[in-house]
Amino acid sequence: MKIQPAGKLLGTIDLPGDKSISHRAALFSALAAGETRIENFATSADCASTLSCLEQLGVEIRRESSTVHVKGVGKTGFQKSEVALDCGNSGTTMRLLAGILAGQNFDSVLTGDESLSKRPMRRVIEPLSAMNARLEATENHAPLKIFGKNPLTAVFFEPKVASAQVKSCVLLAGLNADGQTSVLEKTPTRDHTERMLRWFGVDVAENETEDGKLIAVSGEAQLTAKDLLVPSDVSSAAFFLVAAACLQDSELVLPNVGLNPTRRAVVEVLKDFGAEIEIFNEREIGNEPIADLRVRGRENLRSRLSENVLRGKIIANLIDEIPILAVFGTQIEGGLEIREASELRVKESDRIKSVVENLRKMNAEVEEFEDGFRVRQSRLRGARVDSFGDHRIAMAFAVAALFADGETEIADAECAAVSFPAFFEILQSVTK
Ligand code: S3P
Repeated sequence: MKIQPAGKLLGTIDLPGDKSISHRAALFSALAAGETRIENFATSADCASTLSCLEQLGVEIRRESSTVHVKGVGKTGFQKSEVALDCGNSGTTMRLLAGILAGQNFDSVLTGDESLSKRPMRRVIEPLSAMNARLEATENHAPLKIFGKNPLTAVFFEPKVASAQVKSCVLLAGLNADGQTSVLEKTPTRDHTERMLRWFGVDVAENETEDGKLIAVSGEAQLTAKDLLVPSDVSSAAFFLVAAACLQDSELVLPNVGLNPTRRAVVEVLKDFGAEIEIFNEREIGNEPIADLRVRGRENLRSRLSENVLRGKIIANLIDEIPILAVFGTQIEGGLEIREASELRVKESDRIKSVVENLRKMNAEVEEFEDGFRVRQSRLRGARVDSFGDHRIAMAFAVAALFADGETEIADAECAAVSFPAFFEILQSVTK
């Protein structure tokens, strides 16, 4: 993929449905009694992996472009798959499905591509084993063999890492356990699971304690089908917000963007760093807050903060947006430092390394730390960069290319389809 520097971005963009919410919509409607219609289902390859795994497990699914109809089978109505379930590149598919399959009375095997097979699975193996399922993996990596059991043993679990996938895995297993399963969350992570379980009629208890938030579900809970509209993906919006904010005279409108409080930090951070973003028409759909966004491009973005450092609890709220924030950091006075973000090293690629290597190739001044990086305001130069097979790296560097002098070539850019198949087409259509 070759990308030229851009003057400005103009237009209105209909972004794809949120990836995290789409995974959950498919999985939870399969667990429900009755048929659910899901509109604006993500076009991402990851969410297609979730749908095909569910089909392998005997769930009837009908897809008409971005509308998906799922015939629920109930919490234990799945059929054993005779073949391994291929989760592709999708960590969310593997970790959430593991929670569901641990509580079935049959065995399953979950596999993934090269990248997913390198990602840590101990974080779900440990709690599911504590619930009395048996799991086998190769040094805690996929393929993951799950010897299901029903009912599982209800547990109290305190995750060691701030991860919505781990939290969701345990809560889903808890739906098939012999009592109340609770998760103590010290650092808030995206709460789509809690919100959507409630949408499907499950009583999810939430209590603030001195140590964090205690979230609990009962093994007696039942899910009931209920139609859903998926908000547009704020993580996909982030690429266009950064691109337009930094290119003078740009104006983009992004309708129906999901602005869940556990996901919207990227928008607040961009505003704090001087981006001109207007949030309007705030409302709620399917228990999720959404709004329309308008971003205007400015020259010389100036941060309102005393130092441009992001660390601590906010990191979990913008974990997927850090690659594009790194690119943004090259365009703002004072640059940007990200710390306490070592989870980035176990994403679809080692995102600290991917970002640092690519930024250096584009002439940016960057320092790498074990838990993050610091990038200075830099004049970017077109270069040949790598996506490292990681969709968010491919898209972040497509935006960097717009700011650079000369042409940029991104190797293996097609992986953008993992979350946003139409990204390059849309980018081209709004570039003037
Ligand atoms: C996700 C949670 C996050 C995020 C991922 C999607 C989810 O992962 O990075 O893209 O849908 O629950 P972790 O749970 O590993 O932090």
